[in-house]
Amino acid sequence: MASRLPVVRNHHDLRAAVQRWRRGGKSVALVPTMGYLHEGHLSLVRLARKHAKRVVVSIFVNPTQFGPTEDFAAYPRDEQGDWDKLAKVNTDLLYAPPVEEIYPDDFSTRVEVIGLTSGLEGASRPHHFAGVTTVVTKLFLQCLPDVALFGEKDYQQLLTLRQLARDLNVPIKIISGPTARAPDGLALSSRNAYLTPHERSLAPHFHAVLQAVAADLAGGRPVHEAVFIGRDRLEGAGFRVDYVEARGAETFLPVERSIEEPARVLGAVFLGRVRLIDNVAVAPPRSA
Ligand code: PAJ
Repeated sequence: MASRLPVVRNHHDLRAAVQRWRRGGKSVALVPTMGYLHEGHLSLVRLARKHAKRVVVSIFVNPTQFGPTEDFAAYPRDEQGDWDKLAKVNTDLLYAPPVEEIYPDDFSTRVEVIGLTSGLEGASRPHHFAGVTTVVTKLFLQCLPDVALFGEKDYQQLLTLRQLARDLNVPIKIISGPTARAPDGLALSSRNAYLTPHERSLAPHFHAVLQAVAADLAGGRPVHEAVFIGRDRLEGAGFRVDYVEARGAETFLPVERSIEEPARVLGAVFLGRVRLIDNVAVAPPRSA
C-alpha cells in the first residue's frame, strides 16, 4: 500500500523535517541517488530502515560529476515513477532540489579526495569524483543525517566517500549495501535503460567474466594472467574493455601478484555506446 510521501525542494525544509525527527529522538538515514530508481536503490532504502527510524531519499542528477561528452542531458529521469516506488517502500521524505539549490550562481567550492580517486573510474572520468564528493558533502550538510547509505556497485565511490567522512570527521556513519542484480547477473543500473535488446542479452557476460577472474585469483592464478584472460573473454563476447583490475578491498591498492588479502575485481566496459561498471569480491586462497 502506498503511503503519503512528502517532497521538499530546498534545504531549509529538509533540515526542518530532519531536526523535528531528531528532537523527537528518531534517528535519520539519507540515501543519495540520481533517480530513475531501480531495485538496487530500493534495496538501500530498505537497508536504511534497519539502521534508522526515518529515511530520506535524495534525487539530484548532479551535473558536476558528468564529463562534457557524457550523458548528463540524456540521463534518464522519471520523478513521478520514482515517487511511486519510494512511497511503496515507506520512505519518509523525498528531497528533490532544483539545480540552483545545490549550485547557486556564485557557487565556487570543490571537495576533492585525492589518491583513491586517481585510477579506474577516476582515470576514465577525470572530474567525476570531485563532482561526487562535492555534491555528497553538500547533501550531508543540507540534511545532517545520522547515517548515509551507498551501494557496493560503485565500489570506488563507496571507498572515496568513506575516506571523505574519515578525513573531515563527518559525524555520519557510512553504511554500504550489496549490489542488486537481475536474475541473469547483470548489476542493476539506471543506464541499463540505454541497452538495445541485443546488448541487453550480451550484458550478463560482464558479471560472469568478472566472477571467473575472481575464481581464478582465489584459485591462486597470478593477477596479470587472470586479468588478461578476463579481458580477452570480454572482447571475444563483444565488449570494448575500459579496465579490469584487482584491488585490495580496503586499501584499494593494486594487487601485484596474487591475492593475499580480501580483494575486489573491478571492471568497466562499453557495449555499443553504453558504459557499464561492476565489481565482485575475491576471497584470498585458503593457503595464503
Ligand atoms: P546513483 O547511480 O543513482 O546511485 C545511487 C546509489 O545507489 C549509490 O550509492 C549506488 O552505489 C547505489 N546503487 C546503484 N546501483 C545499485 C545496485 N545495482 N545495487 C545496489 N546499489 C546500487 O551513485 C550515484 O547515484 C551518485 O554518484 C550519487 C552518490 C547520488 C552522487 O550524485
